[in-house]
Amino acid sequence: MEIDVEKNERLFKEAYNKYVTRPGAKELLNWIEESDFFTAPASSKFHLDVPGGLCEHSLNVCRNLKKLYELEKQTHPELEIGLDSIVICGLLHDLCKANFYKVEMRNVKNENGQWDKVPYYTTAEQDPWGHGEKSVMLIMKYMTLTDAEICAINWHMGGFDDRVRGGASKTISAAYEKYPLAVLTQAADFIASYIDESKK
Ligand SMILES: [Fe+2]
Ligand SMILES: [Fe+2]
Repeated sequence: MEIDVEKNERLFKEAYNKYVTRPGAKELLNWIEESDFFTAPASSKFHLDVPGGLCEHSLNVCRNLKKLYELEKQTHPELEIGLDSIVICGLLHDLCKANFYKVEMRNVKNENGQWDKVPYYTTAEQDPWGHGEKSVMLIMKYMTLTDAEICAINWHMGGFDDRVRGGASKTISAAYEKYPLAVLTQAADFIASYIDESKK
C-alpha cells in the first residue's frame, strides 16, 4: 500500500492549525515537523507498516473519533466534546511513535534461490517512557491537555496496555467511566487499526 505522504501532512496540518490553537501548539508542531512523524510507519509489521503510515493512522483515528462522537451525540445529547479534543486525541495519541522506528536490512531468498538484502522496520526507542503515557508527556512538554484528553491519550490502548496486564485494570475502567472521550478514542483507534487498516 502506497501512501500520499505530502497530502497527509497537509491534511494533518490543516486540521491541527484550525483546531489546536492553545498556547504551545506552534512549538509542539515544530517538534513534530523536526521528528520523522510524517514519514514514519504506524507499526513495524502490523497495520500501515509503510512510510507515512503513522500520519495516515492518526488521520484515520481522528476521522473515526469524530464519527463516533456524532453517532453517540444522537442518543446522548448531553455529551459535549470539543473539536479541539477530537483533533488532539486523534492526531496526537500515537506521538510516542515518532522517532521510534528505524530501517534495517535482512537477507531474503529470491525466486532464483539467491539472497537479496531487503529493508524492514524495527524499533529503536530513544525515550523509553511507555506508550500512551509517553504521548501525553511529549505533548505536555509544550502544551497543556485537559483531564479528559490526558485519560483518552494515556489509555487509548485499552486492554492491550502493558500496565493493564500488570494490574491497572481498575484505573483504566475508572478512566473510561469518567471520560466518554477516552472510550471513544480507544474505539476509534481499534476501528482504524483492525478494520480500516486491515491487511486482509
Ligand atoms: Fe497506540
Ligand atoms: Fe493508534
